Amino acid sequence: MRHLPMRVPRVTGRRALGAITAGLLAAGGLGVSAQAAPAAARTPAPAQAPAASDHERLALTPPMGFNNWNSTHCRDEFDESMVKGIADLFVERGLKDAGYEYVNLDDCWALPERDADGLLVPDPERFPNGIKAVADYVHSKGLKFGIYTSAGTKTCSSIGFPGALGHEYSDARQFADWGVDYLKYDNCNNQGVDAKQRYTTMRDALAATGRPIVYSICEWGQNKPWEWAGDLGQLWRTTGDISDSWSSMSSIMKANLALAPYARPGGWNDPDMLEVGNGGMTDTEYRTHFSMWSIMAAPLLIGTDLRTAPESAFEILTNDEVIAVDQDPLGKQGEVVSSRDGRWVVSKEMADGSRAVALFNESSRAQRIETTTKAVGLPKARGYTMRDLWKHSDTNTTGTIAATVPAHGTVLLRVEADRKWAQHPPALDVAADGGAVTEAGRTERITSEVTDLGGTAAHSVRVALTGPEGWRITPRSATSARALKPGGTLATDWDVTVPAGTSAGDRDLTLTVEHRARSGTWLTSTAPVTVRVGVPLPAGESALSDADPLSASNGWGPVERDRSVGESGAGDGGPITIGGATFSKGLGVHAPSSVEYYLGGACTTVTARAGVDDESGDRGSVVFEVWADGTRAASTGTVTHADAARALSADVSGADVVRLVVTDAGDGMDYDHADWADLRVTCA
Ligand code: GLA
Repeated sequence: MRHLPMRVPRVTGRRALGAITAGLLAAGGLGVSAQAAPAAARTPAPAQAPAASDHERLALTPPMGFNNWNSTHCRDEFDESMVKGIADLFVERGLKDAGYEYVNLDDCWALPERDADGLLVPDPERFPNGIKAVADYVHSKGLKFGIYTSAGTKTCSSIGFPGALGHEYSDARQFADWGVDYLKYDNCNNQGVDAKQRYTTMRDALAATGRPIVYSICEWGQNKPWEWAGDLGQLWRTTGDISDSWSSMSSIMKANLALAPYARPGGWNDPDMLEVGNGGMTDTEYRTHFSMWSIMAAPLLIGTDLRTAPESAFEILTNDEVIAVDQDPLGKQGEVVSSRDGRWVVSKEMADGSRAVALFNESSRAQRIETTTKAVGLPKARGYTMRDLWKHSDTNTTGTIAATVPAHGTVLLRVEADRKWAQHPPALDVAADGGAVTEAGRTERITSEVTDLGGTAAHSVRVALTGPEGWRITPRSATSARALKPGGTLATDWDVTVPAGTSAGDRDLTLTVEHRARSGTWLTSTAPVTVRVGVPLPAGESALSDADPLSASNGWGPVERDRSVGESGAGDGGPITIGGATFSKGLGVHAPSSVEYYLGGACTTVTARAGVDDESGDRGSVVFEVWADGTRAASTGTVTHADAARALSADVSGADVVRLVVTDAGDGMDYDHADWADLRVTCA
């Protein structure tokens, strides 16, 4: 969430939420390993969910719909015509058919003051015909309507619209009279009243209306709602607010993954609304967002203004095979099967006995991710059908599930032990030893391997490796095989020459494999191969902020050179200032952050004066870490807004890459503006 005054007309200075972001990008998120219990092995299919209560029946599958918050916050475009426009598009663009049902209003729909009778008053500028008229319109389209308020004296916007604390029964009555079908009940300005008590009172008030209303408990995971909120509502937020950035989305995802045992039909973990289409992530990242929300059986509330959203957002949001994973009637949340070096395997048991399997690559380079049908909980069988839910195609495997997944990407599969497996072409595991760090002008040897994972042969296999313009790529061994038997491999050596003058950064080559199906048609699969190009640093001591990084990621806005982070565009921060001292050189970042530089084994020390930027005010706490290849070479421990800049010195002798990591110190990323002031490197 924002930590500085927002630059929007209606809202300034949003308060912090004290978000809980448990699954931090600890140690850069990578290199951490966790081994969770495999999803229950050998469960006979089909499985059935237990009988539901009336309360649970309100959301037997995770609610799907729209909420304006992520795209508009309190800006003027949030009004009656937007809400009607979304309802229209739900019908016209097939979203209603895909299962999206609720059209929900978030904060800022009301006037700041109640009327003389203590009733809520819709903002006449935004909703000139009142709320009932909008609800009626939404209903006329065969959709349902939702609204928002807070379990406090005021809502979360700093303007402070009326909250329902002490007005629960009359507010609930008003909502029911307007035809509200869904209430999101927030947590701001709660006056310290016990959460369970506040959320129970509104549950009772909703029940007293006699109208079935889905009850969305939004207390940001502060009081472990997964342990008690299922008795009150149908979904509960598990974390602080999502933002439209990779680090926000992925850290929330990781926190929510840990809560799998608590999800069930009628009661869902809510990792917050979707950002798909809002522009702050790539389509690969948005597909990961949507895949992972679906395998986590998360509520799917579209958070983009569909009237202006790009076509790619519609393609992602209406992928019905992915939605079917989310909406599976068994109602299980996918469990982490394994997680190591940013390679995540998550498996979700489905009602028909199949497993949805996500191979999620958290790292910033293409990586091969492997698991087995046994590890994801499938029964023993001779063969399995493996359906790729983004490519919409089937292959067969005898037990290995593997794919090379692009940086920040997810391969989402549905795997089942069925009799028809042998009718599908064999799955080909296409991989290469990418991730090498090299320099412009150098030639690297890369070996690719194409392995038949299926129980049937692959015929007329041929492989090609292509790169960006100007790259010379020459095969040094066979690039084709007449046939690959089950388990057989075609290995090919390639010489890859990076053109002179190539700037620092990761580049993806593409490995393309073709083989002929029994029907005679050619099948093509591709895999990315990441090559990291570094530029040597100058000899002697220099400022790292003058060099181009290999990679950079940030919690809010871009990483800034010689300035602090301003949270949105490049260059929007201020001078780097810690404890009243200003520094002309350094990096301004926002936790969670990771910035990598190429050292090429030629450097000895990295030094900095690290601290929380003064612009964070009296908030913000972070940890700075320096990693030399895979080893942590220095750490500050927790540094807060109250601390002066802390001197940091790391021995990076012999390392190829240095990684500068800032974590949120375990208390959420709010206000975590972190400065690597006076960041210097010494090289030979
Ligand atoms: C809180 C919630 C958000 C949104 C805003 C509105 O931050 O967590 O989802 O509803 O309030 O002010």
